[in-house]
Amino acid sequence: MATEATIDLWDGEQLVLCRDDETGLRAVIAIDDTTLGPGLGGVRLKSYPSDAAAVAECRRLAAAMTRKNALAELPFGGAKSVILGDGPIADRDALMRRFGAFVARTGGAYVPGVDMGTTTDDLAVIGAAGVEVSCAQADPSPWTALGVAAAIRAAVAHVDGRADLDGLRVLVQGAGHVGATLARELARDGAHVLVADVDVDRASALAAELRGAVVAPEAAVETPCDVLAPCAVARVVDAVSVERLRCRILAGAANDMVADRACAQRLAERGIAYVPDFLANAGGVVQIHALREGWDEPRLRAATLAIGDRARDVLEEAARTGVTPLDAAEARAARVLQAARSAREGVAA
Ligand code: NAI
Repeated sequence: MATEATIDLWDGEQLVLCRDDETGLRAVIAIDDTTLGPGLGGVRLKSYPSDAAAVAECRRLAAAMTRKNALAELPFGGAKSVILGDGPIADRDALMRRFGAFVARTGGAYVPGVDMGTTTDDLAVIGAAGVEVSCAQADPSPWTALGVAAAIRAAVAHVDGRADLDGLRVLVQGAGHVGATLARELARDGAHVLVADVDVDRASALAAELRGAVVAPEAAVETPCDVLAPCAVARVVDAVSVERLRCRILAGAANDMVADRACAQRLAERGIAYVPDFLANAGGVVQIHALREGWDEPRLRAATLAIGDRARDVLEEAARTGVTPLDAAEARAARVLQAARSAREGVAA
């Protein structure tokens, strides 16, 4: 498998390239950081234009999981895996079993979960190889949505100094598991919801239910609104689309929604308040932790709503220090990791 990665260019801990000709498995496991605990991150199954692209995405997503788990103050590190889905799978169970055997070799450093292209059934097969999996029996999406809603409320309070959403136009891109719940939550708070989805029937049904409006999916980025909440695809904001945005706040669930640091900088220059995705969308991992720990629902709810407090802190810190919210959030995650490393060294000394 070709990869542009070299040991010096990557500051993650472990990169595993997996191959099994019998099942056709080709996969990458990236364990970015285990300072806080085992690396928690989903198994993505999709086709990639090249092996290097698969490795690059896996590394990037693993690093984002480190930041997400650290910011959410969870005892998990960051990891991710991708299975290259380059064609029909002859025997899916056999492939997942084999992948589970590779995960087992990480000795517990990687705890896989569901991600794009994989299901809880797949994770059950992976888990049968004797590894812990986080594939919740319960759907994490409502908790992800609750956390995103808290982040949006915090951003509105930061930008407008108001505690309600009355009459604010919130455009939800993607009316799926997270987006639909988020739209309902925000409509309950008085927001006027605009819905964009490539599945037009789905968008229409949700808009009708919430007395909102449908926006054509290709027009989502440039439609005037107060809040744009990407809850579908990655890289909604790139060098081109960042100039076309007509929102004041960008906060949603979609992983990797801003293509790079330069785009985050441009958002700040344009006066668009951005809540980094890895901060806003942590409700799902909070729920995984809650299930592991046996938390009751009020405790899980409070921990998820704390995402709003963190969003407020990050936006305030960014405004105060003149950095982007992305920089502020990354610095905050780095501080959490550094404190854990120092505490560990203190114990060892
Ligand atoms: P989903 O698959 O249930 O919903 C996605 C929706 O987006 C579908 O209705 C689909 O038709 C629509 N869509 C696809 N491409 C689109 C486009 N170009 N424009 C408009 N709509 C489009 O996915 P889910 O679970 O709601 O996740 C949404 C996003 O949030 C994903 O990026 C996911 O990685 C991220 N996320 C989800 C979490 C969860 O708990 N489900 C946790 C953290 C992140």
